[in-house]
Amino acid sequence: MNHPFDAFTYRDGVLHAGDVPVTEIADAAGTPTFVYSADAIRSSYRRIERAFAPIGAKLHYAVKASSNINILRLLREQGAGMDVVSGGELERAWLAGTPMEEIVFAGVGKTRAEQKAALDGRWSPLKDAAERLGGRNIEDRGPVGLFNVESESELEVLAEVAAELGVVARVCIRVNPDVDARTHEYTTTGKEENKFGVAVARVPVLFEAFKDNPSIEVTGLHVHIGSPVRETEPFESAVRVLLELIYRLEGAGHVVKVLDLGGGWPMNYSDGESPDIEDFAEVLVPLLETRAKNGLQIVLEPGRSIMANAGVLLTRVHHVKEGRRKRFVICDAGMHTLIRPAFYRAFHFVWPVRVEAGHVPPSAMEDLELPDLHPSDVVGPICETGDFLARERNLPKVQRGDLVAVFSAGAYGMSMSSNYNDHPRCAEVLVDGGRSVLINKRQEQATLLETEVSPREL
Ligand SMILES: Cc1ncc(COP(=O)(O)O)c(C=O)c1O
Repeated sequence: MNHPFDAFTYRDGVLHAGDVPVTEIADAAGTPTFVYSADAIRSSYRRIERAFAPIGAKLHYAVKASSNINILRLLREQGAGMDVVSGGELERAWLAGTPMEEIVFAGVGKTRAEQKAALDGRWSPLKDAAERLGGRNIEDRGPVGLFNVESESELEVLAEVAAELGVVARVCIRVNPDVDARTHEYTTTGKEENKFGVAVARVPVLFEAFKDNPSIEVTGLHVHIGSPVRETEPFESAVRVLLELIYRLEGAGHVVKVLDLGGGWPMNYSDGESPDIEDFAEVLVPLLETRAKNGLQIVLEPGRSIMANAGVLLTRVHHVKEGRRKRFVICDAGMHTLIRPAFYRAFHFVWPVRVEAGHVPPSAMEDLELPDLHPSDVVGPICETGDFLARERNLPKVQRGDLVAVFSAGAYGMSMSSNYNDHPRCAEVLVDGGRSVLINKRQEQATLLETEVSPREL
């Protein structure tokens, strides 16, 4: 599934998720609500797995894309390991049933406390709540399968913490290959000026410095150049840099067992925006085939490519305001619900949930040419001009109370949402065939006030 309409289609003029009219979901769960398709999640996962099967790639789902425990469980059922970037995500992955060996812990600013919890369950912040939350024995929890380490400083602290606990931390060094992923500057991560990874020239120094450390096993390399990457060439360049580096490391007597290529894999927010995952595999598999055959474990960390088109955001129109040049469609979702348009100027296809026959969208494009469309901004309730979901789009007429769908909202939607302007975070619903289930209750207003206390001595 790699297209906004793969899992969400118009039938008799009403948007459906699988077999369920999303109008029913909005009536039952309210709005705004994220709706996910279990079928779409499964099939995207399988498609990536199939494309990279010739090199036996192991998939670790990037939890940051959409972190609901029920979604993690669904992906576990498909065989996914997990890629986490904080102590909180680590706990989610574990509570979803992921064995520690199948968790990769990445992230540029891991704290000592997070490292401890990732090495020994007795240090988990959930120690006291684990039984209530899932019943697994947290005290027996051993180290994560891999730490993707981003700096010398991090590796030094990790070595100290592992020595204190008497365990060995397995490590991949995240390499900064100085390759431009040619994506938004805020999601470009593999250039020299970005905060991520270790410069290529420093990597052999780290391998050498820690080769006899009894608490650290430096076992491989990691790279993640950005997201979404819409061309195959930057991936190819990054892989070539890493393969050359492996060759050098081996020349110096080191063994490289794991090559983690990160995420950033493609999907389409609009028609034909990116090559298919198979196109990426076609370029990368031949480069990696021999190495993989000789035992190099390839790891991928897909997030967006699994989740983005497996979700829509349902929002209700609260007001329509006619401007001089365009119409403002004011909804209950905004930058607090889905920040991508405001933050990255990202495109999401937006369309009313219920349409007349001539207005069923033929494709997910920005400039559809259908009769009776009106230039519209679809905006939220937040007091920021940057609070928009779509700008200058030709849309069918909508009125107060109508539902609007924001497509491709399954990744980096809920997980990046906030309480800005004191709005509760919204609900999440999972549709599986003809069945839809609530997987996250809408936050209650009172919850937002729970941690605020009357002033007291520190
Ligand atoms: C290290 C790492 N791995 C994986 C991902 C997931 O990327 P995507 O959702 O584009 O697959 C990210 C995204 O920021 C990342 O930083």
